[in-house]
Amino acid sequence: MKLCMIGTGYVGLVSGVCFSDLGNQVICVDKDLAKINKLKNGIIPIYEPGLEELVKKNIKNKRLNFSNNLKESIKKSDIIFICVGTPTKRNSSNADLKQIYNVAKELSKSINKFKIIITKSTVPVTTGDTIENIISKKNSKKKFSVLSNPEFLREGEAIRDFIYPDRIVVGSNDTKSNKILKNLYSPLIAKGANYLNTSRRAAELIKYASNAFLATKITFINEIANLCEKTNINIDDISIGMGLDQRIGGRFLRAGPAYGGSCFPKDTKAITSTGDNFKTNLTVIKSVIKSNEDRSKLLLKRVYEILNNKIKNKKISFLGVTFKANTDDMRDSSSLKMIPALSKKGALIRYYDPTGFKKEFKKHKNVNYSDTIIKCLYKADLIIIHTEWNDFKSLDFKKLVKNKKIMIFDMRNLYSPKKMIKKNLKYFSVGRGL
Ligand code: UDX
Repeated sequence: MKLCMIGTGYVGLVSGVCFSDLGNQVICVDKDLAKINKLKNGIIPIYEPGLEELVKKNIKNKRLNFSNNLKESIKKSDIIFICVGTPTKRNSSNADLKQIYNVAKELSKSINKFKIIITKSTVPVTTGDTIENIISKKNSKKKFSVLSNPEFLREGEAIRDFIYPDRIVVGSNDTKSNKILKNLYSPLIAKGANYLNTSRRAAELIKYASNAFLATKITFINEIANLCEKTNINIDDISIGMGLDQRIGGRFLRAGPAYGGSCFPKDTKAITSTGDNFKTNLTVIKSVIKSNEDRSKLLLKRVYEILNNKIKNKKISFLGVTFKANTDDMRDSSSLKMIPALSKKGALIRYYDPTGFKKEFKKHKNVNYSDTIIKCLYKADLIIIHTEWNDFKSLDFKKLVKNKKIMIFDMRNLYSPKKMIKKNLKYFSVGRGL
């Protein structure tokens, strides 16, 4: 089939490349010409394991093209996926749908034959209705159909999550378009993916409700970890003990720093906004947002305690600064709160991240990037393991750190407290007793 992906971010680019790898003809469109030119040459603007080779393979097989001519790309395609950003509006909880509506206006001028128009971006409930109204101002409703097909891709695992999804959700009451979508996804359904057809609004809400629930699960285990610290219990035992209950499940029960990323923070806010707009107070999710926002302050307090509140001139080394491993994404990473706060208190901070230098820390005093782990840890007073990169999972700290009294705050519980104490290291972690 002939597909057009509008927007070449984490969602549009990964979905477009994977659709082309399934044998479809795909045009990925972006208004950023520089980005399009890089993509045409196989240069990928995002860090996503496995993406580069998939892009190059499908460009070579002439199934994947890039363009910054939106009108022309829409006219050439039968199925249009809207994959533009829906960030949180400044000083608000609402999703900013400016880009979505601009695309809808462009689409309404480019309906040269029947089009299936699909929102893959995460959009609030009723956005599909609004898109339909915008397009029907200039086109008969017989000439197009608007569906919701939310993505469930985790950064760093996006290709795997596309090829082996737990479920494909398609929201539409238009049987003809549903059949076409089911056919498009048939290779994944053949591999065992569940295919769920719902109303359009239900599909829009499934996405938000899923992310809000995952954020709730993480925040829940983080709060239980706080209790474990006061009762000298190991949170790992709780996560396993709870997770063995099929109704709970063991995934997303790893205690750590505040959750971040481009989705959980924005989606939890947006769904509470939708609730408020429809006079339904989503109190659980509001408390999750508050609890997660407080978590960085809580972990910072732990850092101050570990350093006996003597922060000035203390050498603090961060291992990992992205919001999670296997991504270069810094959006809402808890390091963006912790590092500036420590720098303001006079700490001398070095950070190492496998994805390199971060411009976000450029303006902060005494915050420097080290391009190797050894340089980052050299003579550190306190090592903070912030992100669970594999690179950090079997370090010989004694050899790496030229400092007798090594202290480690492992925010991702990568190491065993018993083994670290045996090595005479002052080891702190999350939810594992005092
Ligand atoms: C999320 C959803 O998982 C995905 O389905 C959706 O499409 C987009 O948003 P992503 O934001 O890429 O994906 O990352 P995810 O792996 O979900 O992690 C989100 C945050 O939760 C990260 O900060 C991560 O460190 C944290 N997390 C995750 C935990 O703290 N503990 C866990 O057990 C899992």
